[in-house]
Amino acid sequence: MSTIETQLIESIHSHELSSVSKVILANPTSLNERELLLAKSAQAVSARILERCQLEGAAIVNCLVSAGIPCEFHAQDLILHPPQFEKFTVTLECEDPTQAVNIASDNGYWLHIPTSEPEWTDFRRNNSQIVMTRIDDVTTRMVLKWSVHRSFFSRVIRRLARELQRLVPNSRKGYTEPFLGTPASLLPGLLEFASVSSSDVLLDVGCGDGRVLIEAARVYGCRCIGYELEESLCDLARASAVENGVEHLVEINNDEIQSAPHDNVSVVFLFLPVKLMSKFINAFREQLKPGARIVAHEQLPIESDVPADCMAPLFSETSITVAHLWMVP
Ligand SMILES: C[S@@+](CC[C@H](N)C(=O)[O-])C[C@H]1O[C@@H](n2cnc3c(N)ncnc32)[C@H](O)[C@@H]1O
Repeated sequence: MSTIETQLIESIHSHELSSVSKVILANPTSLNERELLLAKSAQAVSARILERCQLEGAAIVNCLVSAGIPCEFHAQDLILHPPQFEKFTVTLECEDPTQAVNIASDNGYWLHIPTSEPEWTDFRRNNSQIVMTRIDDVTTRMVLKWSVHRSFFSRVIRRLARELQRLVPNSRKGYTEPFLGTPASLLPGLLEFASVSSSDVLLDVGCGDGRVLIEAARVYGCRCIGYELEESLCDLARASAVENGVEHLVEINNDEIQSAPHDNVSVVFLFLPVKLMSKFINAFREQLKPGARIVAHEQLPIESDVPADCMAPLFSETSITVAHLWMVP
């Protein structure tokens, strides 16, 4: 890995890609062709993400204001801390976010809290923000905040309730984490990085809507297996396999990752919360056949017992990640 690649990876980890790529490009004559291309891609994608967040935030705020909901979009924060993925914050100047949530839903944003009326009322009383996501080729996350003016008494009750939530496991009843798929534009680069070929059997551990499997089956014609806990995502993945004419190559299991078979698997793909990834990387290194590959990607550092054999900063027109590869000895 070249110094520039290491620098770019470190800057992704520290969330400073935008400024670091600018510094690298300030002295272009010191770079070889590949490094120059990488740094230019990093700068271009950083600018693109910032622009998308600005446009998206302004558009949502426009809709809210036209509907008579006073709110503020924190555009300045985006400039001060350029985001590495699509995420912006909108603050409502009211205590009830219901109408804003409905408007955001009409604009394609999903709500990751219960939608039944009593649970929603309960959620909105006890929280002051939610994350809504819109899943296109990239997942856009909007943090919707609302002001909560409370009496001293209700603040004490709320603090007690929070403490209780911490003590009782799964007490955030009905709250689900937003689904975050690998950005579509990164898939070709990631599969190429893993040297996937038609003779591989690819296992996606937590396959979501099946996008990795379908891309691999469609482009390389390899057998693909996915495990996914969420039934609705499994349905989406199966439908998408049919739509793309690869249902004969793609098998989707609505089951725990732990049930995944390893016998013929030659490539394991991982995009999970980092803590889970570390656990699975270590386990798969023990269980897979020699020569198998484990490919994982994430903007945060991934800890594992054994460091990755290869790492690379990966940029598409719209997304940023760090690709990791472990070869099973
Ligand atoms: C970050 S998404 C990645 C989806 C897909 N691999 C991709 O890269 O687009 C992780 C997925 O893993 C699923 N998941 C998390 N823990 C799981 C488990 N123990 N067993 C099966 N699936 C799990 C989640 O429901 C989620 O859909």
